[in-house]
Amino acid sequence: MSEMNPEQIRARVAELGDWFHNMDLKGVRTAPDHFLYDYPANKFARFEHAIPADLTGKSVLDIGCNAGFYSLEMKRRGADRVLGVDSDDRYLEQARFAAEVEQADIEFRKLSVYDLAALKERFDLVIFMGVLYHLRHPLLALDLIHEHVADDLLLFQSMQRGSDEVFAVAADYDFDDQAHFDAPGYPKLHFIEHRYAHDPTNWWAPNAACSAAMLRSAGFEIIDQPESEVFLCRRGPPPGFGAAYPARPSTNGHGRNGGKA
Ligand SMILES: C[S@@+](CC[C@H](N)C(=O)[O-])C[C@H]1O[C@@H](n2cnc3c(N)ncnc32)[C@H](O)[C@@H]1O
Repeated sequence: MSEMNPEQIRARVAELGDWFHNMDLKGVRTAPDHFLYDYPANKFARFEHAIPADLTGKSVLDIGCNAGFYSLEMKRRGADRVLGVDSDDRYLEQARFAAEVEQADIEFRKLSVYDLAALKERFDLVIFMGVLYHLRHPLLALDLIHEHVADDLLLFQSMQRGSDEVFAVAADYDFDDQAHFDAPGYPKLHFIEHRYAHDPTNWWAPNAACSAAMLRSAGFEIIDQPESEVFLCRRGPPPGFGAAYPARPSTNGHGRNGGKA
């Protein structure tokens, strides 16, 4: 395809509706009035050093790719194969257009995180940024990523609310021990029954300890946390009934809770 001029790009960007990714397409901004400004480039700048600079020979899956900012960045790092999936047709159209302007060979496909098994493919790097809190079933999504598509690295981010402290959770507690639940750094997943930030698709807001605990529980080992809400993980052994479960079997044979409730 011949190169588009800025007027053609601007016209197509407008046709494609509101953009969440404020990208720079040959000098044309896709969301110049974004409430987070130069997003996600300004966010990426804070953690890009944590991701391998050279992805030559690697495959990347970008789940909830939106307009493809991270897909494009991984292609720029030399990834052989980049697949972006999203459940939203409009965002996928934006992503396809952005890749066309950048002449980047990236595949974009409509697919929900809950249907990842259909890919029948594992990826060296799975990106799961900004999606978890939009899901009604967040742990299921992490489990499916572990089971079906993650091969090595997982780059994860969630909106987080509450304390950034991390409470040292003991391996077990007596039934009457309750004080730790109220510690600010105890893993907490705040449920949003109605809306948050005027967005009905926000279902959950974990605190930092909860993001980390959920990742571990789904079988991911955290190898870096370049900022509070961004985690680089390595896929570990398949989780048991909660990753820590095999290490703390019940002592009385009455199951996980010691048969008390
Ligand atoms: C806040 S945006 C994050 C976009 C991008 N990953 C980032 O970090 O900038 C959330 C994206 O997740 C997508 N999404 C929501 N639910 C999804 C699902 N069940 N499966 C796949 N994508 C989903 C939305 O369409 C949207 O593009």
